[in-house]
Amino acid sequence: MCGIIGHVGDSDAIDTLITGLENLEYRGYDSAGVAVQNGSGIAIQKRSGRVSELKESIEDRPLKGRVGIGHTRWSTHGPPTDENAHPHTNSTTDVAVVHNGIIENYAELKARLERKGHEFTSDTDTEVIPHLIQQYLDEGVENETAFRRAIDELEGSYAVAVMVSGEHALYAARRGSPLVVGVEDDEFFLASDVPAFLEYTDEVVYLEDGDVAIVRPDGVEFTDLGGNPVSRDLETVNWDPEQTGKGEYDHFMLKEIFEQPTSLAQAIEGRTDPETEAVHLEGFGPGTFDGVETVQLIACGTSYHAALYGSLVLNQAGIPSRALLANEYSVCAPPVDEETLVVAVSQSGETADTLSALREATAEGAQTLTVTNVMGSTAAREADDSLLIRAGPEIGVAATKTFSSQAVVLELLAHRLTCDVLGTSPFDLESFLPELDRLPGRLEGLLESTDARAIARRYQGSQSYFFIGRGLGYPVALEGALKFKEITYEHAEGFASGELKHGPLALVTPETPVFAVFTGQEDEKTLKNAEEAQTRGAPVVAVCPDDHRATEVADAHLEIPPTNPELAGLLANVQLQLVSYHAADLLGRPIDKPRNLAKSVTVE
Ligand code: F6R
Repeated sequence: MCGIIGHVGDSDAIDTLITGLENLEYRGYDSAGVAVQNGSGIAIQKRSGRVSELKESIEDRPLKGRVGIGHTRWSTHGPPTDENAHPHTNSTTDVAVVHNGIIENYAELKARLERKGHEFTSDTDTEVIPHLIQQYLDEGVENETAFRRAIDELEGSYAVAVMVSGEHALYAARRGSPLVVGVEDDEFFLASDVPAFLEYTDEVVYLEDGDVAIVRPDGVEFTDLGGNPVSRDLETVNWDPEQTGKGEYDHFMLKEIFEQPTSLAQAIEGRTDPETEAVHLEGFGPGTFDGVETVQLIACGTSYHAALYGSLVLNQAGIPSRALLANEYSVCAPPVDEETLVVAVSQSGETADTLSALREATAEGAQTLTVTNVMGSTAAREADDSLLIRAGPEIGVAATKTFSSQAVVLELLAHRLTCDVLGTSPFDLESFLPELDRLPGRLEGLLESTDARAIARRYQGSQSYFFIGRGLGYPVALEGALKFKEITYEHAEGFASGELKHGPLALVTPETPVFAVFTGQEDEKTLKNAEEAQTRGAPVVAVCPDDHRATEVADAHLEIPPTNPELAGLLANVQLQLVSYHAADLLGRPIDKPRNLAKSVTVE
């Protein structure tokens, strides 16, 4: 979490920095700040609150400069106050620093610096960095040497960008937190993520752990911390800058829900051929997974629900598979060996919990693969292989389109795996592939005709919201509940429908609507479970096709087009996303930036 941005070039830095921070606000929105070289030194404005408040304050008291850094914060050390906002400086404001990550040895460094007379003004771990640099500058070394020595003392994770008064350059380093350089002729950008500067350039260089980048008006130098040159490729990102704006929509979340016909079409494009009943996953030809005996899918949050979806498909096909919460992995991972494939599922590819589980699996000798939306992300680079979900940038903190793309790509992966390992597909390809092809179109129809807002209004003010499903409907129920609680702040819970009677039924009242997901797998049982709740007074909302028997029993209905059981849950999920969205909208919640959350969770 936290987003950092930097700019070096001929044009004024402030607009670029503010735009970058607006595009990075999904990474944290507790406070925001910028610093520029204004000709006579470093000028800073920073404050608690949103980037929009910082922008207003800069309009009142303009800042100017061609070299600058900026930060949007998700608090870890210290509350979201003006003092704790980045950039942080040394006491004479000669060094300004923005940082994403956690400096684990900051207390010890701070105590040492305080003994030497340094005075600190914030509770943050970051503030030790400008003071360390100052300490080395006071010894008379060059800016670059002072920067390298200070970084060398840090333990923990960081992406940092540093400015020293009077020098038109940015010093940057990464370890464990993402950092990417953007290049557009003689304009250079530094950021935690590409959308920060995508409207200026799509030419990027991803830094690797241990890299240092020194950005000057005439170019960027990449080295290791010791100063030895390293070679890093310039890559072109095929994301459209339009995708990073809200367009005609009130919220990114709604825009991203409506983008799903496109993002799903992108996820499968060129990868399936219904006519020849073939699946081609680039880089994963037949035989790739020969010898794999078990699969573990590791992920967090929404990605975990997609991982669970993938693992259920694999289990149903006969490949022993488990979805595991990445943050639990270090305590209770099932054993792995070289016949185990560990699949990290992560939209961002930067989630600290997932990275740490991936590293553990690698150390234990498993084969590893990352399924991600971000080319060049840490998880993509650290795993043996990576597979892109091609959903395009997702800015809303609540994951929507990436869930459906993850699930579909995991289904294609499951096909490759089971073909290699068992010699057969988990699907009846003759019907599955044409249905997969039709999925984007079916989704378009659903989005045009949904009753989700009316349903959200009808059950507004309920005490609690339950979501149930069986088989592939179970991860969809979990995801429905996560989305609902995340953006409405109302209590919601997802259950395997058969579990309701083993305890949760005690909570059921007329004030607890139950959303029941029907996928075509053992629907009669799910309907029975829904009726058990209904008998106890709970209104039931059936998420199913129009001609489904559940519509005769349920109190309300959210329609999904008929399709294969392996795809029905994805359509149901979109209806549930819409219910959450509208329920949150009716409550006036800040949908794209739910309280206390950030999109990319880079702390464990
Ligand atoms: C919820 C949500 C989170 C993320 C989770 C993992 O809407 O977005 O639960 O799914 O933080 O993030 P990634 O997929 O980036 O690893």
